Amino acid sequence: MKDIKKYIDQHKDRFLNELIELLKIPSISADSAYKKDVLKTADEIKSSLEKAGCENVEICQTKGYPIVYGDKIIDKNLPTVLVYGHYDVQPPDPINLWDSPPFEPVIKKTELHPEGAIFARGACDDKGQMYMHVKAMELMTQTNQLPCNVKFMIEGEEEVGSASLADFVKENHEKLSNDVILISDTGMIAKDTPSITTGLRGLSYVEVEVTGPNRDLHSGLYGGAVANPINVLTKMIASLHDENNHITIPGFYDNVEELSTEERAEMAKAPFSLDNYKKALDIDAVYGEAGYSTNERNSIRPTLDVNGIWGGYTGEGAKTVIASQAFAKISMRLVPNQDWEEITQLFKKHFESIAPKGVTVKVTPHHGGQGYVTPIDSIGYKAASKAYTDTFGKTPIPQRSGGSIPIVSLFEKELKSKTILMGFGLDSDAIHSPNEHFGVWNYLKGIETIPYFYHYFTELNK
Ligand code: BES
Ligand code: MN
Ligand code: MN
Repeated sequence: MKDIKKYIDQHKDRFLNELIELLKIPSISADSAYKKDVLKTADEIKSSLEKAGCENVEICQTKGYPIVYGDKIIDKNLPTVLVYGHYDVQPPDPINLWDSPPFEPVIKKTELHPEGAIFARGACDDKGQMYMHVKAMELMTQTNQLPCNVKFMIEGEEEVGSASLADFVKENHEKLSNDVILISDTGMIAKDTPSITTGLRGLSYVEVEVTGPNRDLHSGLYGGAVANPINVLTKMIASLHDENNHITIPGFYDNVEELSTEERAEMAKAPFSLDNYKKALDIDAVYGEAGYSTNERNSIRPTLDVNGIWGGYTGEGAKTVIASQAFAKISMRLVPNQDWEEITQLFKKHFESIAPKGVTVKVTPHHGGQGYVTPIDSIGYKAASKAYTDTFGKTPIPQRSGGSIPIVSLFEKELKSKTILMGFGLDSDAIHSPNEHFGVWNYLKGIETIPYFYHYFTELNK
């Protein structure tokens, strides 16, 4: 491979400015008020793919937000890499906790990023990481070293469950046929410790509603005499974990794969400092399932978390009231063998069964998806490992992540190909949180590493 560093050096200011322009558009898929902006972002991605040297670039309409497709087929006998990413972003709130407005990107230096980091919603998840692939494509075409075929598929509904993409994939096997799927939408251990994500957790997301009396009541006149939906809901939620922080839903752990002692010992070799972890989050202790380490708790073990809870009076001052209803949103992170639809049913059955007399309970499933594990002896993994070794000077560590990209297991089922997760973000990049950012160094390192993946993937397929 030649001239990669040189090309990046010559064009890095433009690479940054183009990303900054993309980050200015608030493509929030969850909020319909931003529909125009989401659609505009799709248009921008389309023209950026054209400029990068893709052909057949099109905006594929769906029931929801469009999917941007583009490809470059240089020789049908060569392997094909399918790049997936998403152009939608999470809502920015709570907005008052941002140091600068979420859609007015700024580059600021931080302790971890002395070269600067771009602060904006979507900087890392996933506009910044997706755009690395667009720029790597440009680099390979401009320097005449694209070694194989490429297809791009960039969606706008990842943050809300990828419903339209699932249909699109099912209906377009031929168009999307490939030898490997390449995604940068995860992280790595540290700037000096490259890693490749080998697992993602599944997800079941539900909303629960507890209804008591038919109206809000005076908490003096009725308090103590009727079931208070908020008291009941919090008690029910508390009972979902036992004293060892095991989840109490019957059958929940039935299909959980227990890792062997050897596998757990291998995992424990990944560098990790509990002190730094606590310091970064300003907590005096970690918390979780007995018998497992922090890294195990957030990757190979399933979890249940309340994501939001509301009801009653939350305004200024005090109002003495027993609310008629209480609500919560609950997510369960699942490990590969757990079926998300089955878990959703187990949750529903259990949650309804623990409701006391005097209230009614409603459980509404939202979305979900299967977990994923990928082997480390595939050609794709080996190509990625060699790519990182060239650009980081270190062999990357395989690591299972706690996050979810539910569509990845569907890719494997429908398109019969493995996904390689080459993430360049850091846990401290604050994705989904206020002050999300992406290191300039990480962005450029991604653009540098991706062409090596194409090179080795093509070589190893010969
Ligand atoms: N890119 C993330 C997932 C991720 C981040 C995986 C870091 C591994 C490391 C993705 O955009 C995301 O946020 N996924 C959601 C699930 C989705 C169905 C809303 C998640 O994990 O909460
Ligand atoms: Mn993402
Ligand atoms: Mn996300």
